[in-house]
Amino acid sequence: MNRKIPIAKPNFGREEETAVKEVLESGIIVQGPRTKSFEKEFAEYIGVEHAVAATNGTIALDVSLKALKLGPGDEVITSAFSFIASGNCILFQRAKPVFADIDPRTFNIDPSDVAEKITAKTKALIPIHVFGQPAKMDALKEIAEDKGIFLVEDAAQAHGAEYKGQKAGSIGDMGCFSFYATKNMTAGEGGMITTNDRKLADKSRLLINHGQSQKYHHDTLGYNYRMTEICAAIGSIQLKKLDEFNAKRRENAQLLTQGIRKFHGLTVPHVDKDAKPVFHQYVVRVEDAYRLDRDELADSLTEKGVGVAVHYPIPIYRQPLYLKLGYGGTKCPNTEEACRRVLSLPVHPLVDKKDIEYMLDALKDISQ
Ligand SMILES: Cc1ncc(COP(=O)(O)O)c(C=O)c1O
Repeated sequence: MNRKIPIAKPNFGREEETAVKEVLESGIIVQGPRTKSFEKEFAEYIGVEHAVAATNGTIALDVSLKALKLGPGDEVITSAFSFIASGNCILFQRAKPVFADIDPRTFNIDPSDVAEKITAKTKALIPIHVFGQPAKMDALKEIAEDKGIFLVEDAAQAHGAEYKGQKAGSIGDMGCFSFYATKNMTAGEGGMITTNDRKLADKSRLLINHGQSQKYHHDTLGYNYRMTEICAAIGSIQLKKLDEFNAKRRENAQLLTQGIRKFHGLTVPHVDKDAKPVFHQYVVRVEDAYRLDRDELADSLTEKGVGVAVHYPIPIYRQPLYLKLGYGGTKCPNTEEACRRVLSLPVHPLVDKKDIEYMLDALKDISQ
């Protein structure tokens, strides 16, 4: 009998239900105490002085780059092996995204290609801790400091991940998180900016709330990008569960790796010696030596009820929007190859040992 194992599933319990009910009963749905306490708890967890809540991760990135005053004529280096928001947040500033290639083993931005792509116009560097594994932050920080450019971590997939014992989102000038439904912790929708710089935190807060420094006193052009109390209440509860969720993801990843490394032509995730990843996704590479190509393997697993996904099938610079903007000539060969080979398998905390056995049996059938 086929099981159904979804690629992602939010993990809520009674605690979230009670928290939402309490918010509704309190009558304070926005701009209340829950957002403030969620910000405080998140800052403490990440190990930074300030955390600023926002509507979602895209806005966290947008506001961070605005707070850093990036604008037309500036170049910002990032990776094209990511969700579209990682490039779009640069376009929002009318700045120019410059795409550096990735390390084919970790899928994270390659510091040596970053160094090659720096020009006099480069103002910021946005590494993405893709699939929950921190990028090579030492090398990237050295480049950023040497060239006097900002380092903004896209930690949307890396809640609780560590690089040399430091939490993702606490290493650069600013960190940006997403609490989208499929993330390691969710608030339904939501985002958070983390920083040790008070001025950047204050500026971000202004941008998120109509540039308002005191009630009906607007200092600067801002937006309504506020998090609701309902999302903050869910986020607070999920944060308390995050370490447990991440431990389960790591355990699932280890079991998958033990089983999958036996199949010729499938490459299991590589863990960098300096990184403690949180397996937002568990991503295998389907090499030429495997008996099927990536899409055929995806179809076969889907037929057997295993939810799979391709993160990411198209480099950002080949998306129609970016082709229209003239990015078609960008060359990142490792990124393109990864787009052809990667396949994500279910690893979330609701995947149990029986699901893993089922997935490995399915793979055994398919691989013969
Ligand atoms: C790497 C990355 N950056 C940014 C975002 C944007 O976050 P959101 O969906 O909360 O706007 C996401 C996720 O969805 C992401 O995976």
